[in-house]
Amino acid sequence: MGQETIDLVAFDESHLDGAVLLSREVGWPHRREDWAMLLTLSHGFVALEGDAVVGTAMLTPFGDDCATVNTVIVTARMRGRGLGRKLMGAVLQACGSRECRLTATADGLPLYEKLGFAATHEIRQHQGIPAPLPVDAARDAIDLGWVGPESFPAIAALDLEAHGMDRRPLLRLLTEAGRMVVLREAGRSIGYAALRPFGRGEVIGPVVASTPEQARSLMSFLIASRPGAFLRVDTAEWQTLSPWLSARGLVGVGGGIAMRRNTTGRPPPGPAKPFALASQALG
Ligand SMILES: CC(C)(COP(=O)(O)OP(=O)(O)OC[C@H]1O[C@@H](n2cnc3c(N)ncnc32)[C@H](O)[C@@H]1OP(=O)(O)O)[C@@H](O)C(=O)NCCC(=O)NCCS
Repeated sequence: MGQETIDLVAFDESHLDGAVLLSREVGWPHRREDWAMLLTLSHGFVALEGDAVVGTAMLTPFGDDCATVNTVIVTARMRGRGLGRKLMGAVLQACGSRECRLTATADGLPLYEKLGFAATHEIRQHQGIPAPLPVDAARDAIDLGWVGPESFPAIAALDLEAHGMDRRPLLRLLTEAGRMVVLREAGRSIGYAALRPFGRGEVIGPVVASTPEQARSLMSFLIASRPGAFLRVDTAEWQTLSPWLSARGLVGVGGGIAMRRNTTGRPPPGPAKPFALASQALG
């Protein structure tokens, strides 16, 4: 069957099982719950051959002027016939004039370049079961700990500083799905990190802080809290973090290329910045 006979429909819950099969086919670890979380935040499209999901793509808006594109997959036997481009066309129409960000695989890069995306930086993926981490001696001197809903406004403010876009819907879901830790200085929140189930184990991310030392304190706390767990970190700050993550047993296993289209050019307000991603899909 050629792609011209394949219709795109809006992604809904009935497509989740098919999407899981498709992501397994390309070796991605997404569970049904991971797809469902993305769908809650996104406008999704699926390509159907009969009842079978043979292609997916989603646009996740953040506020009025930014969005991420993710989960662009075409089943192997249907590739090279324009279905990927068709899915991206639907996504970019939904995107409108928003700045659009994504993390490209080697497969996706040529298509995204043709559609006007430009590479900005590299993302590295680290994962594994870390060696048990002794409680950091310095931690007693650091105001660092688990937080509940009362810290949501401070976390949202730090996240906005770091990303320059309103990610509160994502942060709410992360709070429901996992746990948050906040780093304080003189009573003021200066960094946060999230831990949640994802794929083969758990993800540490986002991690937002002003310095690599602060980011490492947040991540050390989370690593120490989950002895024996399979953990994953995706980071653009690999120059400062990769050796440290590798030394803890979270080895580098590849990554992707961050790309943008319709860039607003506005730098995030800072000084907080992202040290780890919520996921390659969401940034
Ligand atoms: C990326 C992917 C979705 C593309 O799907 P597809 O249906 O094969 O894409 P299309 O047939 O629409 O091709 C899109 C364009 O990219 C071009 N292209 C694809 N692969 C290319 C390559 N390796 N080198 C150069 N150009 C390439 C095609 O020529 C086409 O250009 P055209 O429309 O100007 O002719 C598919 O390869 C896939 O699912 N890969 C595995 C999952 C993945 O990595 N997804 C990307 C996540 S970021």
